[in-house]
Amino acid sequence: MQIDFSGKAYLVTGGASGIGEATVRYLAEHGGQAVIADINEEAGQALVAQYPDQLRFHATDVTELDQLVAACELGATTFGGLDGAVNSAGLGSLGTTTDMPLEEWHKVINIDLHGVFYACRAVIPHLRQRGGGSIVNVASLSGVRADHGFAAYNASKAAVINYSRTLALDHGPENIRATAVCPGFIETPLTAIPGSIEAIKSDWLNAIALGRGGKAEEVANLIVFLLSPAASYITGTEIVIDGGMGSSNNQPNIPKIFSSMS
Ligand code: NAI
Repeated sequence: MQIDFSGKAYLVTGGASGIGEATVRYLAEHGGQAVIADINEEAGQALVAQYPDQLRFHATDVTELDQLVAACELGATTFGGLDGAVNSAGLGSLGTTTDMPLEEWHKVINIDLHGVFYACRAVIPHLRQRGGGSIVNVASLSGVRADHGFAAYNASKAAVINYSRTLALDHGPENIRATAVCPGFIETPLTAIPGSIEAIKSDWLNAIALGRGGKAEEVANLIVFLLSPAASYITGTEIVIDGGMGSSNNQPNIPKIFSSMS
């Protein structure tokens, strides 16, 4: 898939790694420009060094609105404006309602939900100046259905999905589109540790219709499509990208069980 992003510039939170990084690479390799807003300065600067004309890094903690405002200012002054945002910064955290430390709940909600809100609040004035734009929020399949033991993550990702709908309603008249993408198991640094535990990985692979984890580049392909004019009538919705993981109702695999009995 080839989309020309010449003359277009974007804010990408979490752009130093994984899905955000793959998105930044696609944009840079297809004529686009981006500000990477991330706490990982070393990885972000290394990416900028590979595409010095196309990328800038702004050390940004997405829980700080003023840092996101500054990241957008950097994009606007360097590239002449911003045409959209990809909000990919995020993390997961194990914990149930009763066992999770309160600080952990607040940390996850701060990064995974407030961080998306702050980024949108910072970027929308720039999109207005361009006459519109596209915001893609990276939610999760975990915002559509629940996991065992990920209370804060599940709550924040579900909130991001519905927040993306309200963004679309509120800012559609300004020609600003907003969507949420909901990945399943994608092989990135975020999933490297659980993915290295055999019991977790085999449960994951059994649950995925395509029988493999997704690549960050496959999610980036969806994100750049949603950024582009090819998606000009798509807004206010979530799109699941999970290799079929969410398609099951978790009933037993009866044909498989029967055939193992015969
Ligand atoms: P990753 O760990 O490779 O990348 C996340 C990036 O966010 C890192 O560069 C990290 O430095 C940055 N980040 C973390 N906290 C930050 C903060 N406070 N301020 C600024 N930057 C911060 O993870 P991955 O897999 O690329 O995840 C990206 C998004 O996709 C996350 O929102 C995650 O929840 C979501 N997701 C990932 C899935 C997967 O299987 N990898 C599945 C579903 C959703």
